[in-house]
Amino acid sequence: MRVALVSGASRGIGEAIARALHGKGYRVGLLARDEGRLQALAAELGEGALAFPGDVRSLADWQRAVAGLLQAYGRLDLLVNNAGIGLQKPISELSEEELRQVLDVNLVGPFLGLKAALPALLASKGTVVNIGSLAGKNAFKGGAAYNASKFGLLGLMGAAMLELREEGVRVVNILPGSVDTGFAGNAVGASWKLSPLDVAQAVLFAAEMPERALVSEMELRPTHTAPKGG
Ligand SMILES: NC(=O)c1ccc[n+]([C@@H]2O[C@H](COP(=O)([O-])OP(=O)(O)OC[C@H]3O[C@@H](n4cnc5c(N)ncnc54)[C@H](OP(=O)(O)O)[C@@H]3O)[C@@H](O)[C@H]2O)c1
Repeated sequence: MRVALVSGASRGIGEAIARALHGKGYRVGLLARDEGRLQALAAELGEGALAFPGDVRSLADWQRAVAGLLQAYGRLDLLVNNAGIGLQKPISELSEEELRQVLDVNLVGPFLGLKAALPALLASKGTVVNIGSLAGKNAFKGGAAYNASKFGLLGLMGAAMLELREEGVRVVNILPGSVDTGFAGNAVGASWKLSPLDVAQAVLFAAEMPERALVSEMELRPTHTAPKGG
C-alpha cells in the first residue's frame, strides 16, 4: 500500500494529481482550504481518500493531515506540494503584503509540508514532488512575486534534494509551462495548453521510478505556443 498527501487538491492540477494517484491504488490525503470541494472529491473517490481541510501556510494544518494519514494507513510515501497562487503586478504596484502572501503560500507552504511529512517520509523512504513552474527559471514582466516564489522553491528544494537523497528520500521538482486551469483567474478551455492530466502523469512517472532513480527536475512544456492574440 502506498499513501500520498496532495496539497491544492480542491481543483486544477492538484485535483488531477489526486485522482490519478487514487486511480493507481494510492491512498490519498487531500489538503486545501475549500472544505466543500475536498469533501465532495473524497466522497466521489470513496475508499482510500481522506479530506484534510487546511491552509498550507499553517504547520499545524500540515501536521493534522500527516497525523490523519498515519492514523488511517500507518505510513506516508509521497508528498505532493502543489498548492499555489499567482499574481501578476509590476514592482511599482506590488505591495509588501502581496509579495509576502505569494511567498507564504508558494515557498513557505512547501517548506512546512516537507517539515511536517519528513519523519514519515524518512521512515518510508518516500518521495516529495514539488509543482514549481517554468517561471521558476524564467523571469517575466509583472512576475516579481510569482517568479521570486518559484525561483525560491527550486533553491529550497534543490538543497533538500541533495540533503535527503542520502537518506533515501527523493525530492522531485516538476516545472510546467501553461496548464489549462483557472489559475490566477485564467479562463479554462485553451486547447494549446497542457492539461492538468499531463502534470499528473509526470508526477506518477517520477514517483514510480525505481528506488535507485531520482528524477530531480522535469520541465514540461506545451508543444505549441499561445496563438496570436490569445
Ligand atoms: N496553471 C498553470 O498554468 C501553472 C503553470 C505552472 C505551474 N503551476 C503551478 O501549479 C500549482 C497548481 O496550480 P493550478 O493551475 O491547479 O491552480 P488552481 O486551479 O488555482 O488551484 C490552486 C490550488 O491551490 C490551493 N491553494 C491555494 N492557496 C492555498 C492555501 N493557502 N492553502 C491550501 N491550499 C491552497 C487551492 O485550493 P483552495 O483555494 O481550496 O485552498 C487550489 O486547490 C501551483 O503551484 C501553480 O503555481 C500552474
